[in-house]
Amino acid sequence: MHTMLISLMYTVSFLFTLIISIKLYYSNRSTTNKNPPPSPPTFPVIGNLHQLSPLIHRSFLSLSNRYGPHLMLLHLGSVPSLVVSSSEAAQEIMQTYDHEFASKPNIKIFKTIFYDSKEVAVAPYGEEWRQAKKNLVLHYASAKAVQMFSTIRDQEIALTINEIKDLISCNKVVNLSEVISEHTNGVSCRATFGRKYNSGEAGRKFKQVSQNLLEVVTHFYFADSIPQLAWIDKISGANAKADRVAEFMDEFLEGAIEERIAKTDLDVCEGVEPFIDALLRIHKEGVKGRSFNRSAIKANLMDAYLGGTDTVSALSEWVMTELLAHPSSLKKVQEEVRTVVKGKEYITEEDIEQMNYLKAVITETARLHPPVPVPPSRVATQDSKVMGFDIAKGTRIYVNIWAIGRDPKVWDKPDEFMPDRFVESSVNLVKHDFKIIPFGGGRRGCPGRVFGMAVVENLLANLLCKFDWALPDGVKEDSVNMEEAFGLTSHKKIQLLATAKPFTM
Ligand code: HEM
Repeated sequence: MHTMLISLMYTVSFLFTLIISIKLYYSNRSTTNKNPPPSPPTFPVIGNLHQLSPLIHRSFLSLSNRYGPHLMLLHLGSVPSLVVSSSEAAQEIMQTYDHEFASKPNIKIFKTIFYDSKEVAVAPYGEEWRQAKKNLVLHYASAKAVQMFSTIRDQEIALTINEIKDLISCNKVVNLSEVISEHTNGVSCRATFGRKYNSGEAGRKFKQVSQNLLEVVTHFYFADSIPQLAWIDKISGANAKADRVAEFMDEFLEGAIEERIAKTDLDVCEGVEPFIDALLRIHKEGVKGRSFNRSAIKANLMDAYLGGTDTVSALSEWVMTELLAHPSSLKKVQEEVRTVVKGKEYITEEDIEQMNYLKAVITETARLHPPVPVPPSRVATQDSKVMGFDIAKGTRIYVNIWAIGRDPKVWDKPDEFMPDRFVESSVNLVKHDFKIIPFGGGRRGCPGRVFGMAVVENLLANLLCKFDWALPDGVKEDSVNMEEAFGLTSHKKIQLLATAKPFTM
């Protein structure tokens, strides 16, 4: 009887919400602006949600090919959402009208998880975002800070190389996805927290926090797309789970801070100030005219760690995948790296500067497999006009970085891996003309490019110099799996395995 009553209540409230949603949907449509961008037809309530697959960049591209190759308006639930799919349109949004699209929408899960959206990547445009970004850039991601962290990169490289040698000595196939992920995790953990979390109870907790975080952040919440149905998040337990994960994560970060303050048993690296120490120093000294509290420290720590771990490992993993699938490029890049290094044990940054083909290989991989194919949306803070279309205030903006890199109007044979196209090109990851934007652009562009590229280049130069790589027996170059996994960053769906032989001059 009790269950029947509850299900009756749910049914009634569902129908009630549905009627309100349909009314709202039609009333919203009648007030929309004069010349909106082209849109596919929508369903009441869900809008275009039914047309999206988990690999959202692919769904966006196939829809924009039919409806709007530059700009297309979708309705994700009741939220108007602009999809940007060409370099011209990206330039308008991220450069010409950057200030109108530099804010971030109010997303419930980000408020819950990231300390009321204090994290740089999700914070609304304003003073808090500016200060948090300043901390991150100054003490973690500037050229000077990246230089300071070179000791950590080198120590971690030595460990990674030894680990591969150990696998070889036991005749084991190398799981490159795992090796790369462990390396990037080691570098970012030490640069962020001043220590690694790879073993024991702390390691277990860290792994669990990371997994839980990924689960809740990639979950679909009705509150963010169909606010009228937000009650489903409550009864499904999704809200409670997000709250639990936020608490668990907070506990972890508190532990990291307390441990650092006590400075017991920690890995201290001469001349290196991990980000956590810089933040605690700023906290102690105080910041004139603003509060820099514990939540701001924790959000900043997450910026550094989350921003630069998975992205860096995804890019490195895709580079090795493409090289193994293209042996002539692999041979060419190894020859270049080895010629520059000339048998030295230690590869310097000056050496890497001379590795033009390696840089072309990384750029070509970032074009085909940008680690963040569609970054978290921005939001229009006012009504504006872009490429002749009216964009209403409140519209969420999704830039399809993946589609821009594969635009056949810009790139010859866009789906093919051809690093040579970047050898003599005036287009690169810094001077990109919005033709290739794996780091986004404008005010909300990635502040971690220099940090990220330093880890990627150093790791790849060492892997390619010190080992000869081949696919495991029975795997042919043309059958290397290129499928992407669903997630915040675009990793390979199937881990990359390879055989390695040590190389000595
Ligand atoms: C290969 C490495 C990386 C790639 C491909 C990458 C990619 C991106 C992309 C596409 C965006 C969104 C930009 C936009 O919306 O225009 C972004 C933002 C961001 N990235 Fe990175 N990233 C990388 C490394 C890093 C590192 C190492 C850090 C840590 C310092 C970092 C921290 C951030 C932050 C904090 C934002 C948000 C910026 C804002 O909203 O103001 N990223 N990244």
